[in-house]
Amino acid sequence: MSEPLDRNLALDLVRVTEGAALAAARWMGRGDRNKADAAAVNAMRLLLGQINIDGTVVIGEGEKDHAPMLYNGERIGRAVQANHPTDSSVQLVDIAVDPIDGTRLLSLGLPNALSVIAIAERGTMFSPGHLVYMDKIAVGPAGRGIVHIEASVEENLKALARAKKREVSELTAVVLDRPRNQKYVDAVRACGARLKLITDGDIAAGISTALEGTGVDILFGIGGSPEGVITAAALKCLGGDMQGKLWPRDDKEREYAKQAGYDLNKTLTLDDLVAGENVFFAVTGITDGEMLKGVHYTSDGATTESLVMRSRSGTIRRIFSLHRLQKLMRFSQIEYGS
Ligand code: FBP
Repeated sequence: MSEPLDRNLALDLVRVTEGAALAAARWMGRGDRNKADAAAVNAMRLLLGQINIDGTVVIGEGEKDHAPMLYNGERIGRAVQANHPTDSSVQLVDIAVDPIDGTRLLSLGLPNALSVIAIAERGTMFSPGHLVYMDKIAVGPAGRGIVHIEASVEENLKALARAKKREVSELTAVVLDRPRNQKYVDAVRACGARLKLITDGDIAAGISTALEGTGVDILFGIGGSPEGVITAAALKCLGGDMQGKLWPRDDKEREYAKQAGYDLNKTLTLDDLVAGENVFFAVTGITDGEMLKGVHYTSDGATTESLVMRSRSGTIRRIFSLHRLQKLMRFSQIEYGS
């Protein structure tokens, strides 16, 4: 028997993203994406194993990376490790992780790399299977219910401008800079809206649409499907909105979708992507960005900045932590040092 998700697990989760960010931060600018990713994954896995959950990884390292850990379908959590899955205090959850969103950004020392995790009630997160890309539209609370992925860029920008009581030319759209997204770039420019092209990291961009002070109003374009589900979890906590459509790269993926029962014409709503009503979310900056400061080293440790959220309560915490790395390394299995 499992209990409903009564505890605020987000506060446990922030330890996980902080640990992954600290482990990965050593690799900033060193040009080795795999080592950085391995450090973050290791840390995340160890720390997730300490939380009293029985979790299934629905969005993991999976597909693109052929990862040996935190793979899709892996079960993790203290209950799993301790083999006590029927303990009544254990919470059955789906887990979505991205130990580093923006591995390339981190390896080049560029802004906006972050570590992120979301959990929700078991069976409530969408699994994109082998379909690695998704067309997405994401907005903050002001755009909730008024933008639609089927509508044109112009219609969506006009509707959002009305809702925000601004001109279209005063809105900023963010698009992942890829040839496949050129039609969005052209359409945003044609409308006279401001455009921010990003090289990587559309989770941070999607979340930014729902945060004051980031200067971003709407995300358009095709990016990773796992990142889409994670962004949806965050926007559910922030009261924003998002829709997605799976985007097959070729006939092989179209055929796979058909065989596996994915409807490529279906608009996936926020609730389709994350059906849970009790979503927990934590994100920690690795390199400095508009949304979060990255890991900074001090004479006696390192600092992190994180956002921690829960959809049911709507509470959003911004947590600044000082980590005494010398002390931590005396008992932690995680490699925080150089
Ligand atoms: P990784 O850090 O896992 O490489 O992902 C970065 C990212 O930019 C995501 O934010 C985005 O959704 C995806 O890659 C886009 O994929 P691609 O680089 O293949 O276009």
